[in-house]
Amino acid sequence: MSAIIEVSHVSKSFGGVKANEDISLTVEKGSITGLIGPNGSGKTTLFNSIVGYHPIDSGSIRFEGREISKLLVPEIARLGLLRTFQQTRIYGKMNCVENMLISIPHRKMTLLEAFRRNTPEERERAEHLLHFVGLYEKRWLQAGSLSFGQQKLLEFAMALMNEPTVLLLDEPTAGINPTLINGLIDRLKHANREFGITLFIIEHNMRVIMNMADRIYCLAHGRLLAEGTPEEIQNDQRVIDAYLGAH
Ligand SMILES: Nc1ncnc2c1ncn2[C@@H]1O[C@H](COP(=O)(O)OP(=O)(O)OP(=O)(O)O)[C@@H](O)[C@H]1O
Ligand SMILES: [Mg+2]
Repeated sequence: MSAIIEVSHVSKSFGGVKANEDISLTVEKGSITGLIGPNGSGKTTLFNSIVGYHPIDSGSIRFEGREISKLLVPEIARLGLLRTFQQTRIYGKMNCVENMLISIPHRKMTLLEAFRRNTPEERERAEHLLHFVGLYEKRWLQAGSLSFGQQKLLEFAMALMNEPTVLLLDEPTAGINPTLINGLIDRLKHANREFGITLFIIEHNMRVIMNMADRIYCLAHGRLLAEGTPEEIQNDQRVIDAYLGAH
């Protein structure tokens, strides 16, 4: 395998808060890579830096070998690097199919244009992906009327609409009923194996991330604390002291 994302010596501060300090890590092409760590350890900040949501203070971020740390969110999205949010971002007054169709705005057009110009193939793909995440029966319902867990599934399907090369998922199972989590794990694995999408996942649910990830990075206080296989991470005393001990 080869690295598809290379983060080198990245630092990012907010005022006096060093949210990320000298972080270096790689995400292998085709892998499921985990990012864990206590609340406030800098996980979401790192995702925001990778997708171009804010400029980094120093360091380098490469995607498929190309420096992307100076690019903006839409430019990076068009390269095939997408993320979902800790808090879902859907349009509550539109139905699920409409949300799917306007989720392809990375084509440099307004939401309305994107909605009007969708093709029969896109409408078909929207329905197919809604079926994939288990929302086919709900496809004509307003997205705002879905449960929180269903909204997260919709957001996942919306990201897949863009056929990403890499998808960054910020706590995909948070707020999802434990009985539905196994179904979500299966779908994430399917997206990885069958659609070939590299997944970089922030998770607080250790059962989920230990079950899925090929490799896990652990942050603490904005710094990289440890990296390894799920087994190595689970047995790493530094990770147990800083994070897992509390689980
Ligand atoms: N836009 C911002 N302005 C100021 N401080 C910020 C901003 N974003 C993040 N921070 C700070 O940076 C630190 C890291 O936050 P971050 O959201 O990256 O943590 P996290 O690891 O994702 O935590 P959680 O597990 O709770 O989601 C925190 O101290 C947070 O308060
Ligand atoms: Mg976070």
